[in-house]
Amino acid sequence: MSDRILLTRHMPSAATDVLAAAGHTADMFATSDPPPRAEIITRARGCAGVITMLSDRVDEEFLDGIGSSLRIVANYAVGFDNIDREACQRRGIRASNTPGVLTEATADLTWALILAAARNVAEGDRVMRGEQWSGWAPLQLLGLELNGATLGILGAGRIGTAVARRSVGFGMRVLYTARSVKAPLEKELGAERVELDRLVAESDVLSLHIPMTPEARHLIGAAQFQAMKRTAVLVNTARGPIVDEAALVEALRSGEIAAAGLDVYENEPRMAPGLAELPNAVLLPHVGSGTTSTRSKMAAMAAENVVAVLAGREPPNAIV
Ligand code: DGY
Repeated sequence: MSDRILLTRHMPSAATDVLAAAGHTADMFATSDPPPRAEIITRARGCAGVITMLSDRVDEEFLDGIGSSLRIVANYAVGFDNIDREACQRRGIRASNTPGVLTEATADLTWALILAAARNVAEGDRVMRGEQWSGWAPLQLLGLELNGATLGILGAGRIGTAVARRSVGFGMRVLYTARSVKAPLEKELGAERVELDRLVAESDVLSLHIPMTPEARHLIGAAQFQAMKRTAVLVNTARGPIVDEAALVEALRSGEIAAAGLDVYENEPRMAPGLAELPNAVLLPHVGSGTTSTRSKMAAMAAENVVAVLAGREPPNAIV
């Protein structure tokens, strides 16, 4: 039977290809910008499935607004802090995410930010474009030497592990936090599992890779910035609210830490006042998974979860 599936944003054709091959009708928003929430809900009425973005809040209001036709919400992201799983569960609606396929792309982008923030890449680019370079100088834009430095991984899951593995080429010592010991990381990299306090105090580069949960909110704030080295670099490619962004602006401004590389923000798409003016912040617009092939795999994966549920099967990447 052909069901209608709403895709809340323009996305790679892999999603509509998978849905069409299973005989379903894909109804895709034509825009890359978030459509008004009310428009999404109205258009989703009568749909059996919705493919949502991380910026779509899937809560009671969203689910009730769509109504009883809805059988699955397939999130086009590995993170699913935008989804009220209990609300889905209470209504018998399944939900899924896209784990695994974006691990390497996100780890690559994390390294782009580590290097850019540690070595003032964005500021150097601004100097050149502003025609402010008067010639080579021994003390210009000096950064952090990664070789021999300590990389702190907050959350050694799939992405945190992939980031840690890439540090081998840079000759870094690796510390990590995780709920359990990660034997492969310890064996391969000589990594050491530590508590948060030690991770914060000893890291030269602190990279965040935990999922967004209520306990994770502002886990890195004023007290942690105070405990960090003044030469340290903070990188966040996980979720914005893990960091108290106002406190980060203060820490970067006062020199409590040296630099930050951010791909995610506390109140996306907005930034904390003052952040954009700081030369020691490298800022990207949440593009961690943004390679052509990864976004295409994510699209296919989201659609496959929809197809499975509508065929009466277990979704391969169920979160509800
Ligand atoms: C995710 O998948 O959670 C990323 O933040 C976006 O791809």
